[in-house]
Amino acid sequence: MPNTKGQPILLRMRLAFFFGPVFALFPFIASCSTTNGATPLGGSDDASVAPTGPSGLPCNVEKVFVEHCQQCHSAAPKFGAPMPLVTHADLIAAAKSDPTKSVYDLVSARIKDDAKPMPQPPNARLDASQVSAVDAWVAAGAPESSAGCTTTTTPSADGGTTPPSVTPGTPGPLSCTPNLAIIPAGAWTMPKTTKDEYVCFGVDVTVPTKKQVIAFAPRIVNSTIVHHVLLYQTPLAVDPAHTPCGAGGGSGWRMMYAWAPGGPNMTLPPEAGFPLEGTTHYAVQVHYSNIGGLDGQTDTSGFDACTTDELRANDADVLAFGTVNINIPARGTLDRTCDFKVPAAVGTVNLVAAFPHMHKLGTAIETTQLPADGSAPVSLGRQAQWDFNNQLWFGIGTTAKPGDTIRTRCAWANPTDTAVRFGEKTEDEMCYSFTMYYPKISVGAWNWQAPAFASSCRNTQ
Ligand code: HEC
Repeated sequence: MPNTKGQPILLRMRLAFFFGPVFALFPFIASCSTTNGATPLGGSDDASVAPTGPSGLPCNVEKVFVEHCQQCHSAAPKFGAPMPLVTHADLIAAAKSDPTKSVYDLVSARIKDDAKPMPQPPNARLDASQVSAVDAWVAAGAPESSAGCTTTTTPSADGGTTPPSVTPGTPGPLSCTPNLAIIPAGAWTMPKTTKDEYVCFGVDVTVPTKKQVIAFAPRIVNSTIVHHVLLYQTPLAVDPAHTPCGAGGGSGWRMMYAWAPGGPNMTLPPEAGFPLEGTTHYAVQVHYSNIGGLDGQTDTSGFDACTTDELRANDADVLAFGTVNINIPARGTLDRTCDFKVPAAVGTVNLVAAFPHMHKLGTAIETTQLPADGSAPVSLGRQAQWDFNNQLWFGIGTTAKPGDTIRTRCAWANPTDTAVRFGEKTEDEMCYSFTMYYPKISVGAWNWQAPAFASSCRNTQ
């Protein structure tokens, strides 16, 4: 039996995101597959619980905060947000990161900051009219309003009297019923004095006969301190107890799914599933953020998955494009372009989704398919301004054929006095575009890192 500790949570409300060939369910991805652009998955329009008293904010400004900010900047802030954005008092307070400024000044800056935008990706940016509503109010000196427009939105089935049943910012139900819980045996207790911690635990899943995993969803228990969660498949078993583990992964850890607030569930196309045979080792890494110095915060977050024994036609897998050939000089920069030519032995594969991944010195990452038949290049995910704290999945939905070139460009800036090379540890660097695909490649010496090891690189600049 799979290692199913605890009952799968009952997920209600909202659409499960679905990608793969069934892009029609997700219109903006459908349009992208025809315009050669990979699009970040997520950006759901979550509802928040409206404040109970007058906020002191003008209604048009309050509406922006309720609809686009308060899934994180709620009265008790969530997902690592430093402060609430609920009342006039919250907005005129001194900013956490720079007490010489008011929160409203930073709000006005961050909603226009392309490098570190608020709302943070994958949540949609504010549109021009929302930005100008906030800016006009800030330009007027952020005056208090007596409008009393408190109940702006709480869209729920009964018209707004019941709070949403799913934590705002988390995705809704999977279309399947989760039957595998990848969760810790015990709880993690966040130290009061630790602002940020990366914590890992391992879960082994043993099956007597082959199954396939067909969907993953985050199981977020304490949204006050969870910043994001990553799910890896690992070559060896990982300690089941919560263990601080640095921001990198371990040796040979392969990203299967990752979730940050506003991000989608992961549902495989109906013709593919990740194989489970014998024992599969998973590791979960949770980034906890306790910027408010709260005492006694505990958490048992992890992942839910659906498995099936009605095996689908294709095993899916994750591979890494990119390079391991990285040496960023001390106090210098590096910009590499690396090509991997799809070998004949690999055959034709369907690329489903991609998760570009670097560590903290990364500044940009982009992967592009250059088809051998000369047809237009296809984007396989691009983060022009890499932000380690905002890593995104991109829906792709293209086919790679033998002879195609998969080109990954990675750039870094190294402000330290030591050269930095490839590695899994936080202080090392990476240039991996984890890419979900099927059918699983099983030729001779193939392993999931092969494209990154076999690519040939040149310095871009
Ligand atoms: C999905 C969660 C999330 C959403 C939605 C979100 N934020 Fe944030 N916000 C954060 C996190 C996490 C941080 C801390 C990290 C950082 O500064 O990037 C933050 C930081 C900020 C800061 C900087 C505070 C400081 O002291 O430096 C401002 C200003 C801000 N957010 C404004 C907004 C506004 C305005 C919105 C809505 C228009 C918004 N945020 C939506 C999560 C979110």
